[in-house]
Amino acid sequence: MPSDESVFSAAVGILYVTCPLIFLYLQFCTVPYGRHARPGWGPPLPPAAAWFLIESPTIWLTLLLLPHGRHLSHPLALAIISPFLLHYLNRTVVYPIRLLRSGTKAGFPLSVAAVGFCFNLLNAYAQTRSVTHYAHYPPAGDVGWWIWARVAAGLAVFLWGMAVNVSSDLALLRLKNTAGGGYKVPEGGWFELVACPNYMGEAAEWLGWAVAASTPAALAFFLYTCANLFPRASSHRRWYLQNFGHRYPPSRKSIIPFVF
Ligand SMILES: NC(=O)c1ccc[n+]([C@@H]2O[C@H](COP(=O)([O-])OP(=O)(O)OC[C@H]3O[C@@H](n4cnc5c(N)ncnc54)[C@H](OP(=O)(O)O)[C@@H]3O)[C@@H](O)[C@H]2O)c1
Repeated sequence: MPSDESVFSAAVGILYVTCPLIFLYLQFCTVPYGRHARPGWGPPLPPAAAWFLIESPTIWLTLLLLPHGRHLSHPLALAIISPFLLHYLNRTVVYPIRLLRSGTKAGFPLSVAAVGFCFNLLNAYAQTRSVTHYAHYPPAGDVGWWIWARVAAGLAVFLWGMAVNVSSDLALLRLKNTAGGGYKVPEGGWFELVACPNYMGEAAEWLGWAVAASTPAALAFFLYTCANLFPRASSHRRWYLQNFGHRYPPSRKSIIPFVF
């Protein structure tokens, strides 16, 4: 029977090893859901149910693991795991409810949902055990101001990213509604600069969180998020240009304003 520590190290190792492989794979294959859906990837699930299923381990597994963390009552562990749960409460519960109301019809392939579910099992385990058990913190009463400053700066970036992510998702779902289930060119705010401000916000969230947590697991999660979302944002931008022609401003970048 492998020890808990070796399982944890293996989980973080898998994140680091698969991250560049996923990035390479996504240069050639766009994950087939939403506008990029195509047949041959298994039976379609209703999108709201798929998102709930995919993201649910981040809630139930995290809550199951929390009581087993030796740092559970440490203020740094609490300050770092709370935003993780906040993000996934939105993604698992609030976002699927909004999807239900939006008129999004395209089915979500079971195979893609299964891969997402497995990733979240692995990642929720790695992040929760990292923050609440394996990270090294100074004694609770002895946390230097510079550590709190680093955590505060990271969480400020996280909260900004979450605000951009949630508001952009909301704007897109409203657009879906007004487009009668189809697509329109998004206008205003960050949409004037990038095709996918929701992805930009998500990447900023996990960058900030990695700064706050300062663990190898959190850094791996940030890199994994970029490996996943940068190629997808490029595919979205290409799709807009192909489907809307001159009505889609070519000056808009994919995910980082003026850069990429
Ligand atoms: N951490 C990660 O690695 C990761 C990975 C994937 C997703 N996510 C997050 O999960 C959320 C959803 O991701 P997603 O890939 O589904 O985002 P998305 O492609 O931007 O789509 C979001 C929703 O808006 C609709 N939509 C998008 N653009 C539209 C337009 N121009 N007109 C009308 N409707 C439009 C989509 O409809 P359709 O579904 O019909 O296209 C979908 O319902 C995002 O916040 C993202 O950051 C995170």
